[in-house]
Parts: sequence; structure tokens; C-alpha cells
Amino acid sequence: MIIHELETNFQSKIDGEIKIEPKDWMPEAYRKTNIRQISQHAHSEIVGMLPEGNWVTRAPSLKRKAILLAKVQDEAGHGLYLYAAAETLGMSRDEMINDLHSGKAKYSSIFNYPTLTWADMGAIGWLVDGAAILNQVMLCRTSYGPYARANVKICKEESFHQRQGFESLLVLSRGTPEQKAMCQDAINRWWWPSLMMFGPTDSESTNNDQSMKWKIKRKTNDELRQQFVDMIAAQIKVLGMQLPDDKLIWNEDKKQHDFGAINWDEFWNVVKGNGPCNKQRLNARKKAHQEGKWVRDAAIAYANKKKIQPSPSVELMAS
Ligand code: 3HC
Repeated sequence: MIIHELETNFQSKIDGEIKIEPKDWMPEAYRKTNIRQISQHAHSEIVGMLPEGNWVTRAPSLKRKAILLAKVQDEAGHGLYLYAAAETLGMSRDEMINDLHSGKAKYSSIFNYPTLTWADMGAIGWLVDGAAILNQVMLCRTSYGPYARANVKICKEESFHQRQGFESLLVLSRGTPEQKAMCQDAINRWWWPSLMMFGPTDSESTNNDQSMKWKIKRKTNDELRQQFVDMIAAQIKVLGMQLPDDKLIWNEDKKQHDFGAINWDEFWNVVKGNGPCNKQRLNARKKAHQEGKWVRDAAIAYANKKKIQPSPSVELMAS
């Protein structure tokens, strides 16, 4: 079959809501952009463990420590689901990890900000995981089968992350004046970087149009961002706190909130590696990978032993 027919058949499968599976024919560009997005999503999950890991030993109670530990552990699992999904497209785990460590691959810019107080754990759960959920619920319908199925598993746990973050802030918002101030300070620091998680504006997005045509994305960056603003603008009323945007206002005509300008210079500066914690995050990942080498070596040695070890019956026959 000639390439044109293959591409036409491929697009009609996409348009017909037929999932693309690993063994199906696909345009090389479809394969590459899925490897790009899925591997960077996986990197985001793994690097995303670091800001929260910083507070596991300093959680204010055993209950909060257990909840935070469970969440951080979930993120590791999400990363593994996603690396496995990306591997089905032909890129090895080692290649993906090397691309992260070399700086060639991206991860979500949000994780390059410091976690300064305990309230940051609540703000991350509520805002960062809240933004991630909107995106990941959409990705449950992405056209590449293994990626869609990975997101279904992820979303089940992500909703717990968002709820536990909100509940933690709710307690602080009803606490002492110092706790209220800590809660508001965390919201102030995490609000705008959370809006940046949805990517650049649709007009600036290099991948949006093609990703929408191939139904990798079902909503554009700006559509999801708007949905997030409207959701949080309602939820924050329960906390009795403010979002750090004096231009945030309900627009009755558009039936959505208008909001202030995002600092895209800050966004691209962080994406390019100049954020407050970029170097610290990558160094932590490289150190963990190096220190974990003995585990990988042992697992490979065990797998090889299992593989080439003649089973007892074979030994008997050979003797
Ligand atoms: N941080 C870093 N890079 C970003 C970014 C961000 N917040 N937003 C966009 N970019 C990059 C893109 O990767 C792209 O660069 P590339 O072509 O080299 O990959 C460039 O900026 C232009 O952006 P586009 O809009 O053209 O890129 P996409 O079409 O890929 O859209 C996206 C960006 C919406 C993030 C999309 O990649 C996506 O949906 N990814 C999957 C979800 C994901 O990665 N979420 C990250 C958070 S995961 C998380 O928070 C887990 C939680 O449990 C902790």
C-alpha cells in the first residue's frame, strides 16, 4: 500500500475514534510526537516527587506524613506507567532517562519552584494536581491506546491527590492567623506557575494544531487553562482566600472568568533551565539514578540467571 493510502487510512481511524495500538502502522511524526509528550509526562511525574519529598520528614503529623508518602509513591507509579507506554513506541527507558539527564527532554516547569512551607504541599495537591487532572482526564481519550489506558489509571489516584491538597489548605484556612497567612502565601506563589502547566497560548503552541488533528489532544492549551481558572475561582471561595490576580472577574457574556496576563518570559526562562530549582532537580535525579545502579544491575543479573538457568528436568536429562 502506498504511503498516501496508509496516511489516509490512519487519519480515518483517528476520525473514527479507533485507538492506535503499538503494532498499527502510524506516521513517523505521530510516533515521534507521542514519544516526546509521553516521555516528558513521565519525567514530570518522577521529577514532581522531589518538591514534595522535601516535606515528608517535616510533615506536621503522622497522618499528614502518611498521606504525603502515599501521594509521592503514586507519582512514581504514574511515571512507570508512562515510561512503559512510551517504550511501546520504540524508545528505550535508558534513552528517555539519558534525554532527561542531558537536558534534551523537558519536564513540567512547575517542578522547578521551591517548596518553602508546609502549605506548599496543599497548594501543590490542590493546584498542580488539579491542573494535571484536567489535562489527564482529557488524555484518557487520547488516540494512542497505551497512553489513554495509562491515564485512566493515573486519574483514579490523581483525584485523591487534589482532594487531600484542598483539605490540607482548608484546615490551615480555618487555623491561626499565621496558618491563614501561610495558606495565602502558598496560593500566591503557586497560582501563576500552575496556569503555565497547560503550555503556551494556542497561538504560540508549536504542537497544538497537529496534536488536535491526531486527537492526541482533545482540548487546546487555552481551553484547558480556562476550564482550570473557572474551577479554581469557584473552589477558592470555600477557603476564604484570594487568587493573586486583580484582573480575575466573571464575564457574564462569555460565561467564564477573565484573568490577568501570564508572564511568558518567566515561563520560557524556566523551561530553558533558568528557574529557581532546575539545576537542583536534575542533579537530584542524576544522583538517585547513579545510586540506584546496583538495584538495576542486580535485577538484570537475576533475570539473566532465571533465563539461562537450565530447569532441573533439563539438568537431569543432560546428566
Ligand atoms: N513545562 C515545560 N515545557 C512545556 C510546558 C511546561 N509547563 N508546556 C509546554 N512545554 C513545552 C512543550 O513540551 C513544547 O516543547 P517540545 O516540543 O520540545 O516538547 C513547547 O513547550 C511548546 O508547547 P506545546 O503547547 O506546543 O506542546 P504540547 O502540545 O506538547 O502541549 C502539554 C504541552 C499541554 C504540557 C502537553 O505536552 C501535555 O499534555 N503533556 C502531558 C501532560 C503533562 O506532561 N503534564 C505535566 C504535569 S504532570 C503532573 O503534574 C503530575 C502530577 O501528578 C504531579
